[in-house]
Amino acid sequence: MLEEMSFRTRKWVRPEDLNANDTLFGGSVLRWVDEEAAIFAILQLGNHRVVTKFMSSVEFVASARLGDLVELGLTATRFGRTSLTMRAEVRNIVTHEPIVTVDEIVFVNLGDDGRPAPHGFTEATHTRDRVPQHRPD
Ligand SMILES: CC(C)(COP(=O)(O)OP(=O)(O)OC[C@H]1O[C@@H](n2cnc3c(N)ncnc32)[C@H](O)[C@@H]1OP(=O)(O)O)[C@@H](O)C(=O)NCCC(=O)NCCS
Repeated sequence: MLEEMSFRTRKWVRPEDLNANDTLFGGSVLRWVDEEAAIFAILQLGNHRVVTKFMSSVEFVASARLGDLVELGLTATRFGRTSLTMRAEVRNIVTHEPIVTVDEIVFVNLGDDGRPAPHGFTEATHTRDRVPQHRPD
């Protein structure tokens, strides 16, 4: 499955996102990526109860500076039995220069007992047909 990455979320690099080198702090980027992946997994698997299981190596390709506009892209690369694997990229909105890439982010779908549960999906949806119909418990 090789789908085009879609960039949905945009961020404005603010003073609290900087490191001591006055460039974008890696921890801020990883928080953004993890949140984006969680929302993606919830909407793909139709379940609020999903957790990050694994993140592959992260490459910080280029830096960003105060005031830069960046966008987050995700694509589903594998639907397992209970898991969903995604690839993520953060890039500069203006230049499209990659800032961070994460090859693999694995989320696991959990049942009410907190254990991995089959999600039943084999490919990505591009509509909102799997949006959970209730609020988180
Ligand atoms: C998520 C959790 C319930 C999974 O438990 P587990 O005993 O590892 O479950 P399983 O061995 O049945 O694996 C579940 C799925 O994860 C996948 N998986 C397990 N370990 C993996 C790893 N190291 N890398 C990639 N995928 C992995 C399995 O292949 C399986 O996917 P599949 O069903 O699609 O084949 C448990 O590890 C956990 O609670 N972890 C903490 C999660 C968390 O709190 N995350 C928030 C950030 S700290």
